[in-house]
Amino acid sequence: MWKKAFQFRLHLFITLAQQLQGQTSNCTIRALSVMVEEQKSEKPVAKFDLEKEMELRFEVERQETVQMELIAGMTEVFGTELTRNKKFTFDSGSKVAVFTWHGCTIQLTGRTEVAYVAKETPMLLYLNCHAALEQMRQQAEREDERGPRVMVVGPTDVGKSTLCRLLLNYAVRMGRRPTFVELDVGQGSISIPGTMGALYIERPADLEEGFSVQAPLIYHFGSTTPGTNIKLYNKITSRIAEVFNQRCEVNRKAAVSGCVINTCGWVKGSGYQALVHTASAFEVDVVIVLDQERLYNELKRDLPHFVKTVLLPKSGGVVERSKDFRRESRDERIREYFYGFRGCFFPHAFDVKFSDVKIFKIGAPTIPDSCLPLGMSQEDNQLKLVPVTPGRDLIHHLLSVSTAESTDENLVETSVAGFIVVTGVDTERQIFTVLSPAPRPLPKNILLIMDIRFMDLK
Ligand SMILES: Nc1ncnc2c1ncn2[C@@H]1O[C@H](COP(=O)(O)OP(=O)(O)O)[C@@H](O)[C@H]1O
Ligand SMILES: [Mg+2]
Repeated sequence: MWKKAFQFRLHLFITLAQQLQGQTSNCTIRALSVMVEEQKSEKPVAKFDLEKEMELRFEVERQETVQMELIAGMTEVFGTELTRNKKFTFDSGSKVAVFTWHGCTIQLTGRTEVAYVAKETPMLLYLNCHAALEQMRQQAEREDERGPRVMVVGPTDVGKSTLCRLLLNYAVRMGRRPTFVELDVGQGSISIPGTMGALYIERPADLEEGFSVQAPLIYHFGSTTPGTNIKLYNKITSRIAEVFNQRCEVNRKAAVSGCVINTCGWVKGSGYQALVHTASAFEVDVVIVLDQERLYNELKRDLPHFVKTVLLPKSGGVVERSKDFRRESRDERIREYFYGFRGCFFPHAFDVKFSDVKIFKIGAPTIPDSCLPLGMSQEDNQLKLVPVTPGRDLIHHLLSVSTAESTDENLVETSVAGFIVVTGVDTERQIFTVLSPAPRPLPKNILLIMDIRFMDLK
């Protein structure tokens, strides 16, 4: 059961939310004094004057980059403030919103697929949400309690990740040290796809690179949808909650600052059950539902009454991403893991002997109930470690390097040190070649195989 529920009343901002909701649902778009000129270099330059509480939204064209510069005033991108007269570069496919509370002038250089100024945004609602959470933190400080644990839920492409980033940025800008819990195994932002984890946030996200991921806590899940092994997904969620609780016990600042949990866009069936499980594992105090009234009502019905469940509209700026785009951005995250942001790292390639490592897959394939050993359920099978004999089919697979010393440890609940990808297999010599962020030898010899493959085309 949940621990003592927080007494903070969120009704203030809920009322505000209700008042404003009608106005924000239909985003009216108003381009303001847009000036486009072609430079000699043939890169178009556009200047935008934004009045207070307006947002410039743009998407960078494929294979292009766009430079953005704040000329006058103050502004922020998903909660990170911009420095004046500094050029920020956004890569191909980036979808960006530059919001100003006070008014500003921005210049974009490069080809955008779309660039417009929007007057209606839900930013005031999001800010109110932050203000309510901050009050909960202050109360936690006064009463020697723990701070708010917030879960952000909703279908895909409603701005969940963006809202998490915003709330974390605002909290850290107030001097808090919130924890970001990333449970989205498909489009997660603190490690590569197929993982779940947590990150202690100590400074606002970098405008171009996102949050600094120097010391994340990462667990191996192995595929990009929770549905492939929901039992494992829930197990890891509980494990992260446990580790976070341990941290809160020894780190008062972390306890008061609370956490923001990002979730998958799968909100039906087992996906929904996983959300309920997450709420209970973390004993969340606040659930923010973006854009879906049905989900909001279901959670209100199924979660204990002291959990504040709030429905917020999605921003009209959130862009729907196609399946291909998602796949490409997953590949890009993996590439970034090995080669660094804009290729600033040089990964190592070396051979590993079959006999030097032990490879496992978590979860045995489902077999008919009648074939299971007596007293064993299908679910036990999902957490089982299945030894993998190295062979040709390892090629291109990602492998997590477990921090476990031996198989006596519970590998499912042990964090991982990093990842390698198999780039070649030589069955005659009994070796495989890997790409690794660190030079040889591997730090540990227990490897967990992912369903995810990565072709190293560099
Ligand atoms: N207000 C906005 N204006 C323009 N683009 C936005 C805005 N909010 C979010 N985006 C973009 O929309 C895309 C989807 O948002 P995201 O937060 O990742 O959604 P979800 O996590 O719900 O799938 C992202 O590329 C993000 O950068
Ligand atoms: Mg997301």
